[in-house]
Amino acid sequence: MLEIKAVPAEVDLSGATLVVGVMSENRPAPGAEAALEAADGAMLELAKFEGKSSQVLTLPHHQAKSVVFVGLGDEAGFEAIRAGMGNAVRVVKTGRAVTNLNQIPIDGAERAVVEGAALGVYQYLTYKTDGETLPIESLELIEADAGTIGEVLVTTEATNLARDWGNTPALDKAPEALAERIRAEAETAGISVEVWDEERIVVENLGALLGVAAGSERPPRVVVLQYHPEGAGAHLGLVGKGITFDSGGLSLKTAALMEEMKDDMSGAAVVSAATIAIARLGLPVRVTTVVPLTDNAVGGRATRPGDILRPVAGPTIEVLNTDAEGRLILADGLGVVRRHQPDLIIDVATLTGAARVALGDKIAAVFGSDPEVATTVLEAASRAGEHFWEMPLFQDYKKSIESEIADLKNISGSRYGGAITAALFLSSYVEGTKWAHLDIAGPALWRETAGEQVKGASGVGVRTLVELARGLVPAS
Ligand code: BES
Ligand code: MN
Ligand code: ZN
Repeated sequence: MLEIKAVPAEVDLSGATLVVGVMSENRPAPGAEAALEAADGAMLELAKFEGKSSQVLTLPHHQAKSVVFVGLGDEAGFEAIRAGMGNAVRVVKTGRAVTNLNQIPIDGAERAVVEGAALGVYQYLTYKTDGETLPIESLELIEADAGTIGEVLVTTEATNLARDWGNTPALDKAPEALAERIRAEAETAGISVEVWDEERIVVENLGALLGVAAGSERPPRVVVLQYHPEGAGAHLGLVGKGITFDSGGLSLKTAALMEEMKDDMSGAAVVSAATIAIARLGLPVRVTTVVPLTDNAVGGRATRPGDILRPVAGPTIEVLNTDAEGRLILADGLGVVRRHQPDLIIDVATLTGAARVALGDKIAAVFGSDPEVATTVLEAASRAGEHFWEMPLFQDYKKSIESEIADLKNISGSRYGGAITAALFLSSYVEGTKWAHLDIAGPALWRETAGEQVKGASGVGVRTLVELARGLVPAS
């Protein structure tokens, strides 16, 4: 694991790699003047290094072993520093790296450095025989605040935990196994944990979850996490979609669409990891997190198109497409979390291909029960440096999910507006509670390694939820 720590300005550079920032047209970022002056201009030119964001270049250095120049573009802003640091940690060859990028005079520079490094260095090596690890072992931040580093690392570690869970093959994360992994991590963070087995889920009447689980040999689970610190103000309810593999069920997916579906439990991973980070940070917010976990598989007992399911509360559902399963298990998850009477519910789900069509691979959709809730999420996302965008919950398409023989049906029958009809469906299960729905179907998986992002599960949403919890004002 990469150790990140604060060091004094006169730190010994021998044998280390120095990481410094360079702005567009090779103007030195604050603190890079000397290093840039000493660098061989011809080498920079030869390497076509121009200080553009995402560029990195390693050169020899007169004091340190080498210097990595990190391009920060025109602004040297938060996201450029974070991305630059992510790129830098993957090219350091010396074990030790030293940087002063944290001293660039913008808000959050130190956080950007720590996030970029801790997220960019992530590798998923569980199944590699010769686990190739990056040579970097420590990153030293000149004149940084050790407290800030520690705090940021809580959230980046939670993000990397969510990434680990997402990257795990479906074979090794049956609902039962994933529930136990979440339990183990949550308990070490001082969270109280309940795991409901199938029998309990039957007793609890979670008919929609049971309907999705019916096709699988691997029984479902529900994880309930409760963090209730003394003096907590607001009560946040979280629900995460935990489909441990989405084959589509009898409405079977094509091979190509199925390829990435081990990741369909990203919402569950994100809300669980965020709860763990919130508890580790000791934020004065009560959090109740409900995570329904099941495969969406094909089998003789699988739910058929035309079957009708009864979630624990709220409208009955005619299942016309078994591949629209996320909204079914979320209906039950929302029903369970509502019993705890949170002030605000947030659900996180890789819910619709339509959200990905609308916003692409790098931006997540937010729906709010009212504009204020959506704004709360968007502002938290913006502070966290995660890209979310608001989508409308207008009632225009509500009629399209009304069923003739049940209360609702789980698809609208139209290819268009699919992220919105899914969100409207969920809105039927939150009654009057303030609620936001985060559809992360696009950015839950990153498809290339760049900046602080590493190809594979991204953990997107963890940092936004932690920021959101930080911003909830304790009731007086
Ligand atoms: N898990 C998928 C959504 C998804 C698609 C996530 C692509 C990530 C990438 C979800 O369960 C699903 O299959 N949704 C269907 C809904 C449709 C049948 C109404 C979809 O989006 O095609
Ligand atoms: Mn599906
Ligand atoms: Zn799914």
